[in-house]
Amino acid sequence: MSQYGQQQQGYPGQYNNAGYDNSGTYPPQQQQDPNYGNGSAPPYSAYPVAGGMGQPNNSSPGGGYPGSPGFNPSAVNGSNYNNNNLNHSNSHNSQYNNGPMNGGYDANNNNGNANYGQQYQSGALNYQQSIYNPSSHHQQQQNQNQSQSQNYNQSQQQPGMSPGTNNGPAPVPNRAQAPQPEGDYPVVMAIDFGTTFSGVAYALKADGEVHDMTKWPRHLAQYPKTPTLSLYKKDSQKILDWGHAARLAMLKPSAKDFCLLRKFKLQLDESIHQAPLENGISALDAVTHYLKKLHGHVLSELMKGFIKNYEPSQFQYCLTVPAMWSDAAKNTMRRAAIGAGLIQEGDPPNRLILISEPEAAAMYCERMVDRFSLKHGDRFMICDAGGGTVDLIVFEVSEPPGQARHLKEVTRGHGASCGSVFLDANMERLLERKFKRYRRGIKACGWASLMDTFVDMVKPMFNGQEDVLMQIPQATGLEDLNDSEIGLEDGVLCVSVEEMKAEVFEPVISDVLDLIHKQLHQSQNCSAIFLVGGFGSSRYLEERVRQDFSHLVGLVAVPQRPELAVVRGAVYAGLNTKTINMRVARRWYGVDANMPFEEGVDPESKKIISHDGHIRCKERFSVYVRPGQQIGVDECVSKEYVTWSYPKGLDSPLYVCNSPNQPKYITDPGVQKIADFHIPMPEIPGAQPRTRVVFKLNMYFGLTEVRAEAVINGNTYTTICSFGSRSS
Ligand SMILES: Nc1ncnc2c1ncn2[C@@H]1O[C@H](COP(=O)(O)OP(=O)(O)OP(=O)(O)O)[C@@H](O)[C@H]1O
Ligand SMILES: [Mg+2]
Repeated sequence: MSQYGQQQQGYPGQYNNAGYDNSGTYPPQQQQDPNYGNGSAPPYSAYPVAGGMGQPNNSSPGGGYPGSPGFNPSAVNGSNYNNNNLNHSNSHNSQYNNGPMNGGYDANNNNGNANYGQQYQSGALNYQQSIYNPSSHHQQQQNQNQSQSQNYNQSQQQPGMSPGTNNGPAPVPNRAQAPQPEGDYPVVMAIDFGTTFSGVAYALKADGEVHDMTKWPRHLAQYPKTPTLSLYKKDSQKILDWGHAARLAMLKPSAKDFCLLRKFKLQLDESIHQAPLENGISALDAVTHYLKKLHGHVLSELMKGFIKNYEPSQFQYCLTVPAMWSDAAKNTMRRAAIGAGLIQEGDPPNRLILISEPEAAAMYCERMVDRFSLKHGDRFMICDAGGGTVDLIVFEVSEPPGQARHLKEVTRGHGASCGSVFLDANMERLLERKFKRYRRGIKACGWASLMDTFVDMVKPMFNGQEDVLMQIPQATGLEDLNDSEIGLEDGVLCVSVEEMKAEVFEPVISDVLDLIHKQLHQSQNCSAIFLVGGFGSSRYLEERVRQDFSHLVGLVAVPQRPELAVVRGAVYAGLNTKTINMRVARRWYGVDANMPFEEGVDPESKKIISHDGHIRCKERFSVYVRPGQQIGVDECVSKEYVTWSYPKGLDSPLYVCNSPNQPKYITDPGVQKIADFHIPMPEIPGAQPRTRVVFKLNMYFGLTEVRAEAVINGNTYTTICSFGSRSS
């Protein structure tokens, strides 16, 4: 059963789904909801505002605005307008003129004064408000009449009873949540939870100076981040240690009783198939345990310094996430942050900001923009090459005269698993081959130590010009070995530069170059490429990117401390949430809607007859946002619905689809339900159960996380969004 009735979904050549409901059945006997019409109607059916929906008897005078030209499919189709009822509160005129997401439908049309162009251009896409302007007395009267006349089946509905049951006292209506005030936090702490290394930085909002966290337990190396590693006893779910200490514990003989969880961040990426974690814990638990340890350490360090004057409750958190993560994965991060005690469940949503990693890096590089003299309209690419993934995205500098500088996302960020750990994997294969005949004699901890030598000493120094000399560690038992066949002399292994390139670096670097190439193709023009992330500091990678792209972009640069670009940038994001004001949607977002049935096109199995007698097609994917669409961060995509579920709230599913082609049905391959938005129902004085309630569902896709709010009776309520997650 569709949970949404959507009033308009007309694209050129398609129908406007003016007026439909979800209660309709075809054939009636088979698809009629058994509860319908017997006093226990489905409490969560939503109906469109448009005329013609709902019970036929209820169509007048408030029964869906009969006769309104705006709801007449032929009139709308004839207008050649893409009126799929999106109300972009910030109108970006030109970009909505094409494609299925053509914005809003002019209210005037409903009064017979169609003036689309002008209204559209002016950004006054105010279709709903004009119909349902709460201040319009006439309209309110209509609604009132509607409310009263829409209590269908009232004869069977006992007053004061739940619409969903035939007996028992009326339930207390769901408490509507008033929008929470934004919290005010004097300290910003950013956490870059990486696949291989995690970093923390913080700042006081008062001075904006960013401090890196560099004191980590058992920290030996120069690298300013701490390893994303957790130590557990085998078959135990209690974390014993983390970071460097976890790594060192595995070098001890007792290591056989332990397991070291590594790269568990990748478990949150649905596109990568990962074996379950060794000790059987969920990805959510693994992330939660690690964050709790990391955060506990950082707090204890901060409390030794000047931050001790602040309570942890005064901290705001910015957590970075890969650009390619799904909404479910991002939601898992939010839940992990709650589980780890960074924030509490009931905190204002802005206490934790999730920010995409390349976006955070862009905020960092943006500080260098003046230095590189990028001007209004110039574009630059961020290539965040980390341990696991390489993420790319292109931003445009927007600095109209007299206005503050902003960054606009201009490409759909893209990434792939071709980070620095793939160099390690290639090197390990090369070493396995070289040490084949000695391999059985080398203990696990000796081999781990050999690999550490590569990761910590050899890899960062590789410049693509000199042969590599690698000191074989004592722990291998081969420290004095000579074997000219494999290039080993007095315990020092020599690998030629050609071999290093061909076997270790080039297979990974060619993937990175390919990603850059694709982003450049998407962006058309681009003035600079900034390499960030640990792998971004590789001199050989920098050189290769220069070779291939400097003639196209002019500037290839690695900012200072590239490995800290993401975490420092995330602090800047917390300090100034307004720098990035435009993002690009990565996938189709839509809801489930009933639309006019297209004979010969829609499958018969989806045919239903709605209560207004119209033949409809159920389970149509009604688009909110399409991939590649630019959306302002504060931009609201709004649709309006009617429900008779009062006094119950609504649960409305949100669907996504990654395919490049627009999905037609929510049952199409690749369409996934990602979330249920719970829309609470406020108490409406004097309203009867099943009163017809109009609500507007506003969605914000320009934030890193999808947010929704419902506007009911002129009041705004935040909706509670629950994401399904395979990793929970
Ligand atoms: N100079 C270098 N050359 C190549 N690799 C390097 C260099 N310096 C550090 N690395 C590698 O970079 C990785 C760490 O980078 P970073 O801290 O950006 O990754 P991460 O944030 O853990 O990963 P991700 O962003 O994919 O989640 C490690 O694999 C490290 O070995
Ligand atoms: Mg990273």
